[in-house]
Amino acid sequence: MARVLVIGGGGREHALAWKLLQSPKVERLFVAPGNAGTAEIAENVPIHFTEVQDLLAFAQQERIDLTVIGQEAASEAGVVDEFLQAGMAVFGPSRAAARIETSKAFAKELMRANRIPTAPFRSFDNYQAALSGLADRSFPAVIKASGLAEGKGVVVAGTFEQAREAVLKLMVAKRFGASGDTVVIEDFLLGQEISVHAFCDDRTAVLFPASQDHKQAYDGDKGPNTGGMGVIAPVPWVTRGHLDTIEARIVQPALDGLRREHAGFVGCLYPGLMIDGDTVKVVEFNARFGDPEAQTYMRLLDGDLYEILDACTRGELDPKDVTWKSGAAISVAAVSDGYPGSYKKGMPISGIGKASSEPEVVIFHGGTIRDQGALRTAGGRVLYVTAVGSDLNDARRKAYDAIHCISFDGMNFRTDIGLRQTPELAPGQSSGRPETRPSEPEHS
Ligand code: AMP
Ligand code: GLY
Repeated sequence: MARVLVIGGGGREHALAWKLLQSPKVERLFVAPGNAGTAEIAENVPIHFTEVQDLLAFAQQERIDLTVIGQEAASEAGVVDEFLQAGMAVFGPSRAAARIETSKAFAKELMRANRIPTAPFRSFDNYQAALSGLADRSFPAVIKASGLAEGKGVVVAGTFEQAREAVLKLMVAKRFGASGDTVVIEDFLLGQEISVHAFCDDRTAVLFPASQDHKQAYDGDKGPNTGGMGVIAPVPWVTRGHLDTIEARIVQPALDGLRREHAGFVGCLYPGLMIDGDTVKVVEFNARFGDPEAQTYMRLLDGDLYEILDACTRGELDPKDVTWKSGAAISVAAVSDGYPGSYKKGMPISGIGKASSEPEVVIFHGGTIRDQGALRTAGGRVLYVTAVGSDLNDARRKAYDAIHCISFDGMNFRTDIGLRQTPELAPGQSSGRPETRPSEPEHS
């Protein structure tokens, strides 16, 4: 019997904890720091995910058998490296392996070296060189801070002047500090954006079904970018051919490339992909479960999550263990008024019991807190209503029936998650279309 620690405190970690607890092998489950939802099913530990030494001391004292990284800031803070050094089993990438997400310049070089399809690019580490690079190229162009910038470091520039301004902000004004010391300038990709995840054990990768996030705050893909307003899986129009390409030409070569760089990857590899007809290109790599992708995927996973993650840490991932339910899953985020900008906290939440009365519906908590017995909002993305169904329309209907039972002051949600079921975008939808003004995603 195993004692498991999940690190993080959002909807993703609630979903991972919920799925881990379905394993007959999990005896005790801790979540650090967790939220009001994880407190209902597991034991919350009041240690922040970047307090590496405190986390290690806790894990050793509690004789934790498996630590699962949800929140990526934990890898970045060195939790994985320290835990591995102390001989603990961890599902999550080392700092070196996580560079596939934390350094876009590294990720692009890795893709070039391993012939992974992606937008043609150049990297620059000084302003003058970047300017000369811009002078030589056509527009639109995509300008990216190489380092982490909370999703705000990417600008689609329609003209040289817009691109110059973006580079100036990153490299001279240092808007994102050292994250903008290096910039990547790449071609604009047309198409529709989807993603996949893959369990990885350093050598073997096993793909999940395709998923699609809805990042803009409002219906019709309007409004500012968020951390994710809803996710569907599988994506109805993504074909076996697309998935074979993603596996053979993208995920496996990335894993092999990382191992050759002495940065073997154990964890969840999550490429963001642009699909245009049969062509698939990588937009970015993430080195973690997505949020709310994980909430959707955990509803679809049929296999034993504990066994899969544990096998990954031992280099023994067996594709036969990763099985999926038929049908479809969806998650819809209920967010605070004003999100992704500023919003109020502390609103009482009601209706969760009624909303989750159907067995196909499960509600995961994001920013919630229990205060003297009452459940209250404590973040921008408050709850994720998830549902499974025989197909996407069935799952969608169940999730929306359930979300209408929930209320808190200022609650917002998108009403069109899962409506887009073809590879074509409706007029006015933004994915894959150059803007005339430079676009700057505003993340959560
Ligand atoms: P990234 O942080 O690299 O994922 O970029 C953030 C978002 O910008 C992506 O999710 C895409 O919507 C968009 N984006 C990034 N790179 C490109 C590209 N080369 N072409 C079109 N859109 C892009
Ligand atoms: N849902 C987007 C992300 O996790 O990055």
